[in-house]
Amino acid sequence: MLTNELRQELIQVAIKNMERAYAPYSNYPVSAALLTSSGKIVTGVNIENAAYPTSICAERVAVFKAVSEGEMNFEAIAVVTPNGGTPCGSCRQVLSEFGLETVVIIADQNGKIVLEKSVAELLPGAFRPDDLSF
Ligand code: THU
Repeated sequence: MLTNELRQELIQVAIKNMERAYAPYSNYPVSAALLTSSGKIVTGVNIENAAYPTSICAERVAVFKAVSEGEMNFEAIAVVTPNGGTPCGSCRQVLSEFGLETVVIIADQNGKIVLEKSVAELLPGAFRPDDLSF
């Protein structure tokens, strides 16, 4: 269960790790802290590339790190940006693969929560694994 203490911890972990964002082209650092159902916190930052389209968002780095470590069930993810910007469509889609109930906490770099919604609310009508069974 996502307690207020855990919510704050996720935000603080993301803020602390924000300095690891590699965003020399956009100058827009993004940092994510993903809480797995087993209680682990997995971080991610955006990692840009001189070949721009190969850059990757913070949320997807966190999800892919977690999955590669055997974690596929998530309680919540805190996403911290300079101004509280919201996750892009690709990140919403990647999160939806692993659960529509994951809570997405969106905060600015001062820790102010600007939005908190489930993945289902952020991506209504997501294309899901079930859609491939017909
Ligand atoms: N970015 C993220 O890391 N997550 C999002 O959901 C939105 C955008 C990154 C990508 C790029 O490195 C920078 O923010 C500006 O788009």
